[in-house]
Amino acid sequence: MNAPILFFDSGIGGLSILKPTRAFLPRAPYIYVADNAAFPYGTRSESEITTRVPALLGRLVERLKPQLVVIACNTASTIALDHVRAALDVPVVGTVPAIKPAAEMTKTGVIGVLGTEATVRQAYVDDLTKEFAQDCMVIRHGSAELVELAEKRLAGEKVSRSDVRRAARPLFEKAGDAPMDVVVLACTHFPLVADWLSETWPDVKFIDGGKGIARRIYELTKGQRWPSKAPEGRAIFTAEPPEQMRTAFARFKITDFSTL
Ligand code: DGL
Repeated sequence: MNAPILFFDSGIGGLSILKPTRAFLPRAPYIYVADNAAFPYGTRSESEITTRVPALLGRLVERLKPQLVVIACNTASTIALDHVRAALDVPVVGTVPAIKPAAEMTKTGVIGVLGTEATVRQAYVDDLTKEFAQDCMVIRHGSAELVELAEKRLAGEKVSRSDVRRAARPLFEKAGDAPMDVVVLACTHFPLVADWLSETWPDVKFIDGGKGIARRIYELTKGQRWPSKAPEGRAIFTAEPPEQMRTAFARFKITDFSTL
C-alpha cells in the first residue's frame, strides 16, 4: 500500500494544486489538510505562521505517515518552507509565486503579482524578482478579500463576478498606464476565480504554478505501483467545516472527512 501524499493549505486553495496533480497521478492516495481554524493565513504575522505551520505539519506527518508533503499555500511556503523542511523527515514541495514563467511570458515587461498581503511583502518574492525578473516591472498587490471570495465561491455561497472584480482591481490601479500583460496568481485560492478574472481583463494572462508543482510531484513519486483503483480522498480540518464544504470537496473526489 502506497503512503499518501499530503496536501496542506489554510483552506480550499490547495485544491487548485491537487486538481492538476490528480491529472498526473489519478490513483495516488491523497490526504488534504485545511487549517481552517487559523484561516486566513494572509493576514497573520510571519511569527504566527513560522510557529504554527511546522508544528502542525510535524504532528500530521507523525500521525499520517505521508511519503510527501505539499504545502499548497504561497503564504506558508514563502514564510515557512525552510522551517518546515527542517522540522520534517519527509520531502516537502512548496508553492511559490510563478514569477519565473511570468518573466518568460511577458511581452511588455510588466508583471503583476496578486497574492495575500503576507505573501507580497516577503523577501522570498524580492529574491524571485531579482533572480528571474530583473528586467521587468513587477507590481504587487495583496488581497484578503479575494481569498474570502474564492473560499465562499467554492463552498457554494453567493459570490458575484463584480465582487471578484472589485477585489482584484487595486492591482490594475497600481499598474496605471503600465501595460501589464501577465499576472501571477500568487495565492492558491485565486485559480479558483481565474475564469472571472480573465473575463474582466481578457488581454491579461493569469498564470499560476499548479501544473509545474503537479509535474514535480509526479517526478518525486515516479516508479511507484499505484493501487488499481483510486483510493477515497481524505480531508482533515482543524475546525469543524461548514456543511457545504463537503459538497465542494466531493467535486474533487474527496469524500472522507474528519476534524483534528
Ligand atoms: N491559499 C493560501 C495562499 O496560497 C492562503 C490564503 C489565506 O489563508 O490567506 O497563500
